[in-house]
Amino acid sequence: MRVLARGTALVLLLACGYCAIGAMGAPSGGGVIGAQVTPGAEPIKGSQGNVTGGGSSSATIMTDPWVDSELSNLFNRDDKTFAVGDTIVFNDKVKDLESCALKCNLNDYCEMFAFCADAAGCSVSGMMCGAGATVESGTCVLSMYTAVKSNDGKISDNVNGTAMLGATGPKVGFVSGYYYVDTDPGLPFLEVPLAVDATFNIDRHTFYALPAGIGAATTSKAANVSECASACYANSTCDAFVYCPADKAEGCAVAGYSCSEPTTAAAGDCLLQGDVNSEQTAYLKIDSSLLATISGIRKAVPDDLPAAAPAPAKAA
Ligand SMILES: *[C@@H]1O[C@H](CO)[C@@H](O)[C@H](O)[C@H]1NC(C)=O
Ligand SMILES: *[C@@H]1O[C@H](CO)[C@@H](O)[C@H](O)[C@H]1NC(C)=O
Ligand SMILES: *[C@@H]1O[C@H](CO)[C@@H](O)[C@H](O)[C@H]1NC(C)=O
Ligand SMILES: *[C@@H]1O[C@H](CO)[C@@H](O)[C@H](O)[C@H]1NC(C)=O
Repeated sequence: MRVLARGTALVLLLACGYCAIGAMGAPSGGGVIGAQVTPGAEPIKGSQGNVTGGGSSSATIMTDPWVDSELSNLFNRDDKTFAVGDTIVFNDKVKDLESCALKCNLNDYCEMFAFCADAAGCSVSGMMCGAGATVESGTCVLSMYTAVKSNDGKISDNVNGTAMLGATGPKVGFVSGYYYVDTDPGLPFLEVPLAVDATFNIDRHTFYALPAGIGAATTSKAANVSECASACYANSTCDAFVYCPADKAEGCAVAGYSCSEPTTAAAGDCLLQGDVNSEQTAYLKIDSSLLATISGIRKAVPDDLPAAAPAPAKAA
């Protein structure tokens, strides 16, 4: 199995001051006519001299996420979704979705792929941080994130997961996949009502900010994730929730990324957020084993619920 020493590669990359990735010898097919992709604004700047993360990040060894995911039958594919980092690694046409995913697998820099599966081409705008894409059918966009900012002001290339910008909705013609954060499989399932589970993608160690901005989210208190998720489910303008578990006395620190600042949610906080655009939900997502928040976002298409069990036959 291939081993990805991501931190080590990034130290080299960042020392170059965001010069073209192609110049560092990473595979690059960017610049094809007809494929315009705008990564999420500028990566965080200002203290690039400290970008190595104090050495801890360079020791990070991650096993290959795609291979692991395939083996465990959890190969990550989000339909009707465009996901992109702040730095584009590759942007060109490929044969099919599998070739795009494989290209991401084989590229040490790639943390997320987006494949334009719509025969008419794909166009996505209105995303967080000014990200977007207008590309021809069959285009494969590989990208990565380069910097997150923690509450102490440190810039790091290691969030122990991924940071990305996304948009999901019925008109989004992309299929995207991203680095799978290997959380402890021994943890119990998150208990939420069946209909809520069918409507939202809910994960531990995940945070979403939607276009209205994190400060604009409506915050209330919830006793558990089920209560928070159910509040979002019952609210037609709520597209995503963020819950900081009630037992996290110190609160939940959330890193900043690209156009967002670091923030902290208090224990028991339930943040409800919506995208005013009725056709898509745009989001900034941080997915990190260092993050204590549990979050959910509405699926582009809810899962089918199992048919209601027939009423028990009356005793004769
Ligand atoms: C790096 O960190 C040190 C100590 O935290 C700080 O004094 C210095 O200004 C930082 N360098 C940059 C370029 O931000
Ligand atoms: C990243 O996660 C691994 C496994 O959970 C942990 O051992 C490591 O210390 C984490 N890295 C940082 C920088 O916290
Ligand atoms: C969540 O909290 C509510 C309100 O306190 C409670 O009724 C419910 O049983 C709890 N659910 C779980 C799964 O703990
Ligand atoms: C419904 O969700 C929106 C977020 O889209 C939030 O601002 C609003 O406060 C929520 N309403 C209630 C009653 O919770």
